[in-house]
Amino acid sequence: MYTQNELKAQVAQAAVEFILPRLQQDSLLGVGTGSTVDLFIDAIAEHRHLFRGAVSSSERSTTRMLEHGIDVFDLNNITEVGWYVDGADELNADLAMIKGGGGALTREKIVASVAEHFLCIADRSKEVDVLGKFPLPIEIIPMAREAVARQIKALGGQPVLRENFITDNGNQILDVSGLQIHQPEQLEALLNNIPGVVCNGMFALSGATTALIATQEGVLQRERPAV
Ligand code: 5RP
Repeated sequence: MYTQNELKAQVAQAAVEFILPRLQQDSLLGVGTGSTVDLFIDAIAEHRHLFRGAVSSSERSTTRMLEHGIDVFDLNNITEVGWYVDGADELNADLAMIKGGGGALTREKIVASVAEHFLCIADRSKEVDVLGKFPLPIEIIPMAREAVARQIKALGGQPVLRENFITDNGNQILDVSGLQIHQPEQLEALLNNIPGVVCNGMFALSGATTALIATQEGVLQRERPAV
């Protein structure tokens, strides 16, 4: 039996093999955040001469890429990103995801929105039939914390402030449990409309286009179903 960390390393390596033929000398890679992405950064670093550089979704990933000699570009100076590679906390069959366990959801969603394709890399423990067992992270403006929390309770969720955590954008995170998410796209839009919410960790409108899932039997590739 492979451990979860071994599965993460396998999917990170598979992602490198998937991405390399899709990169050109002038390509910029969008890079997510998390322990799976850390392994992806480590694995793709030896091929850094094959592409121009990266756009990062967090200070954590930026630091790691710079340590490996990968050039990191400011998104404000970039108009095109081909592939964005990131992990997930939960993933359903439509490749809608809950993300933000590492707290980088806002920058992740921004970089993903610029990219043409989103490659999700995860181990099988992240696959679910119904999203919502993993508490949904919501980045909020601190002065709106209680107002947002009341609106989330009215939707049936139980928000808990993530203690001792400030995002790269200087905000706080509410982790919301108790939501059975049968209509992820509607929930994503609804949460976006609450004043004080900077971003929510539902990536459904902004779901993955392709997923690589590490299992005990090997890495599986899944595509977002056509609508
Ligand atoms: C960070 C994220 C990560 O992609 C998610 O938490 C998965 O992380 P890991 O690869 O460590 O399991 O959304 O904000």
